[in-house]
Amino acid sequence: MTLSSCAHDPDPAAVVAVARTWNARAARYDQYYRSYAEAGRDAWRRLYRDAINALLGPEPRRVLDVGTGTGFAAVLLAELGHDVTGMDASKQMLERAHEEATRRSVTVEWCHGDGHDVPIASYDLVTCRYVLWTLPAPGAALSSWARALRPGGAVLVADGRWHTARQLLRSPRLIPGAVRDYLAMGRTLPYWKGITATQMTTLLSTAGFGTPRPFGHLLPGQVRRDSRDFFVVGAQREG
Ligand SMILES: C[S@@+](CC[C@H](N)C(=O)[O-])C[C@H]1O[C@@H](n2cnc3c(N)ncnc32)[C@H](O)[C@@H]1O
Repeated sequence: MTLSSCAHDPDPAAVVAVARTWNARAARYDQYYRSYAEAGRDAWRRLYRDAINALLGPEPRRVLDVGTGTGFAAVLLAELGHDVTGMDASKQMLERAHEEATRRSVTVEWCHGDGHDVPIASYDLVTCRYVLWTLPAPGAALSSWARALRPGGAVLVADGRWHTARQLLRSPRLIPGAVRDYLAMGRTLPYWKGITATQMTTLLSTAGFGTPRPFGHLLPGQVRRDSRDFFVVGAQREG
């Protein structure tokens, strides 16, 4: 796999520590999504199709998927015909993402870098699924994405609240060391327990995005993550 290098490599200690954790979790995360039901993938693909259509229209777009992980969203977006770059701070996650794109016969550009400081490249859309909670400075990341978008471009964020201690301990996918890792990371992550739709609205507005439009209702209930406040919202860059 060839990795293009983003303008700024991750260097703050917190970002490096988070990436190290994800490197260690890459194999299990990949395993989970390899056994993910095709019906669930289809539902997410329809959500992306309909949300992007509502935000930007039906044409193929230049999309940056930040915190792409093992490429779940990036590959779906490529399947929809978009020109997709998947960015992540974890090389181990990106390796799995590349394998997933190969299995699904789509092309995605993979980019190793820090989602707080993405290259300015006039993207039409920045997507981000289950990532903001694991960033030390989500507001700075959103501002960077606003700068990376063309005027009228949009963000599409899926997130929620799931990492309460009780949820972690009850999780059927609890992995050895996960609680310790989350607690260690949590000291540097303002939203390590997750993020509410209301907090998201404030973050988007501060970063220069317009009023968020909700799309979470487009996903069938059984596909939503177990969260008291699951949401998918899209918002246009202002100005
Ligand atoms: C919960 S996973 C989500 C992966 C993927 N978006 C999905 O929907 O399955 C969080 C991802 O964010 C990545 N990440 C964490 N901090 C990052 C940063 N500062 N810059 C870019 N990616 C980051 C992690 O490496 C991990 O792959």
